[in-house]
Amino acid sequence: MADRKIISKETEVSEAVYGLNETLFHNANGYIGVRGCLEEGVPEGFDTMRGMYINGFYDIIPMKQAENLCNFVEEKQTMLNVADTQTIYLYIGDEKFTMTEGTVLKHQRTLDMDAGITIREVIWRSPKGKEVSICIKRMTSFEQLSLFTMEYQVTSLNFDGKITWESYHISDVTNYSNANDPRLAAESEKYLESQVLSAESGKSLSVSWTVKSGLTMCAAVSHRVRGEVLVENTVQQEGTTVVYQVSVNVQKDQAVTLGKYTVFTDSVHSDNPPEDAKAQMQAAWDQGLDYFYQKQRAYLKHFWHHSEMEIIGDAGMNQAVSFNMYQLLQSAARNSNCNIAAKGLSGEGYEGHYFWDTEMFMIPFFTLTNPELAKMLLTYRYDSLDAARKNARLLGHQKGALYPWRTITGEECSGYFPSGTAQYHIDGDIAYALVQYCLTTGDYEFIKEKGGEIIIETARLWLDVGNYSDGRFVINDVTGPDEYTCMVNNNYYTNCCAKYNLNWAVTAYELLKEKNEIAPLVQKIGITEEEILQMKQAAAAMYLPYDEKQKINPQDDSFLSKPVWNLKETPADKFPLLLHFHPLHLYRYQVCKQADTVLAYFLFEDEQSPEVMKRSYEYYEKITTHDSSLSTCVFSIVASRLGMEEKAYEYFGDSAKLDLENTHNNTKDGIHTANMGGCYMAIVNGFAGLRINQDGAALAPFLPQAWEGYRFKFRYRGNLIQVIVADRQVTVRLEEGGSLEIAVYGEKYLLQPGEAVTLDVKSSDI
Ligand code: BGC
Repeated sequence: MADRKIISKETEVSEAVYGLNETLFHNANGYIGVRGCLEEGVPEGFDTMRGMYINGFYDIIPMKQAENLCNFVEEKQTMLNVADTQTIYLYIGDEKFTMTEGTVLKHQRTLDMDAGITIREVIWRSPKGKEVSICIKRMTSFEQLSLFTMEYQVTSLNFDGKITWESYHISDVTNYSNANDPRLAAESEKYLESQVLSAESGKSLSVSWTVKSGLTMCAAVSHRVRGEVLVENTVQQEGTTVVYQVSVNVQKDQAVTLGKYTVFTDSVHSDNPPEDAKAQMQAAWDQGLDYFYQKQRAYLKHFWHHSEMEIIGDAGMNQAVSFNMYQLLQSAARNSNCNIAAKGLSGEGYEGHYFWDTEMFMIPFFTLTNPELAKMLLTYRYDSLDAARKNARLLGHQKGALYPWRTITGEECSGYFPSGTAQYHIDGDIAYALVQYCLTTGDYEFIKEKGGEIIIETARLWLDVGNYSDGRFVINDVTGPDEYTCMVNNNYYTNCCAKYNLNWAVTAYELLKEKNEIAPLVQKIGITEEEILQMKQAAAAMYLPYDEKQKINPQDDSFLSKPVWNLKETPADKFPLLLHFHPLHLYRYQVCKQADTVLAYFLFEDEQSPEVMKRSYEYYEKITTHDSSLSTCVFSIVASRLGMEEKAYEYFGDSAKLDLENTHNNTKDGIHTANMGGCYMAIVNGFAGLRINQDGAALAPFLPQAWEGYRFKFRYRGNLIQVIVADRQVTVRLEEGGSLEIAVYGEKYLLQPGEAVTLDVKSSDI
């Protein structure tokens, strides 16, 4: 297995490359995220998002509604940039190191996904001819989540003399904004008040509090120098900034190092952030960097052991899939106070909000590789069930829970309801992820303690929002995943989700009843046999639109009556359409931002015949722009399932390197985390055809023509399974666990630990 490394040679001083690499080389551990900004700052006039974030730490800001209609959202949460402790200036004698002065002989960044660090290497010749080699390692620790470290090493290549670091701890920071892009905050206000609590001998502690949400966070900074210190100084500026200045003596070919530790704590996760920050800084300081490097490696060894995936003979693709999995790991919350933002912790796009992206695109990866994290993410939804109940009442529903379209703490933060709140499918998405988690892990306790309540409360919502019309259960005025078509009746995807949700609520209820464990739930939420019967009936009568003429599933009742958008004649610079056309204009056309009905074919494939799905697929393919990054991966999976192998590979290619190649042109605002999960699914659920349902686990792999082979591991019911598809054969091995029954191409095999079954590879079929 090749080293998992991403290397970027930054040969020119470029705003675009710096912006992109701030994202690609960010460090995160599910709790904190640090953009990969240049320590010394970008050249004058360059755009930069200089951010450090805490997952789930937010302020509340007014939601400006043009017309404040009844029960509209009045406020929203926004993730905050909490501090800047990544700024460090370097002076060689009296010459300041920058990328625009002197000569940059080398500039390279590496993300080492086995070591869990990023490395920046520079060879610089100063205007006066002094040469240094610089190596800066950064890490957000998986061992101690509050800890971010920087190790700034300077080696003199041709002189003896003095070098000086000026290292900053800035607590007075603001968020990034861009008024022209709806995916970013429109204005950047000051949300944090801050104050330095102490600053001496290279150590400082600051506290900041949010203006509205009443939250507090602390940053503690400490420095450790390796080298002969000539003079050092810790100065406080303007009450909110601390500068630690240290000069050291350096000889030719000698290296000196500044170690900088930052610890973040906050009142969402701690009762006493300042005390915790001090204690955690002390603990980090006592252990030292080498200890954390070792722990980081060990953590990742464990992670890769369960998540290993290799594209045999394709180094570039290998890097891409590893990168995507690594980013998912960096982004996922480690406790149930928070979740995974659409951009992870890599940037401020979508304001740090959590969407359906988590359940439909990211949890599947964790369910199959790190089920403990999947459970944590689902627990977050359980903990915000009360907020979802309140949200349902605001929207006029007497019963049930409606999860918000975008949120941090569970309240709706979407201001534009047609493509936000109206996406009721989020309830079904959560139910789907939950059922998949339980089927994959066999975690009955989760159903009993939390899952049963979520699934019944969401099912109740469907009973309330839908109604019978001509004997069919219909759901009107909702929006499906495709945000270019809003407020429609009977969105095919939504109705499938609702049906699934209702059916599984019945199953969960019956399971708990059978085990004599339904009483607490009955007592808590008053679920009745009558309601369960209604759920069964509504699911059975659920209307799924079908067009007799074209023999496809219309996306909704009115979809096929609209004119088809002329995509061929739309100039390339008019994409994404959402930035160039009024939404209402888009709604009146058959044009899709992303997979909608096609996504339903992946999740609910038993609802239609392969012929109908194929015809529909081809129909939607022609009118889908993939302006959302959540789209091509889904088209890939469904193409695999329908036996269109080449197409599957093509769409997969668009998805796999989306961020590494910046194909959506906005990776600088943050990674596309959902797509990363989608890329994983395109291999595992698409190429390898993995399905997990009540009948068990089943595989039906094919090998994309362009590949020599691929292999991956996944977990199922306590077992670790390895799948290798290479040399025209598929091998399924039970690596760890008890015993495993698994179907391959429809035949069931029983494997004991260490045993494998090897078969000839077939072409995919449904
Ligand atoms: C997509 C949504 C997605 C959101 C956050 C939008 O562009 O249309 O489906 O949830 O981005 O990733």
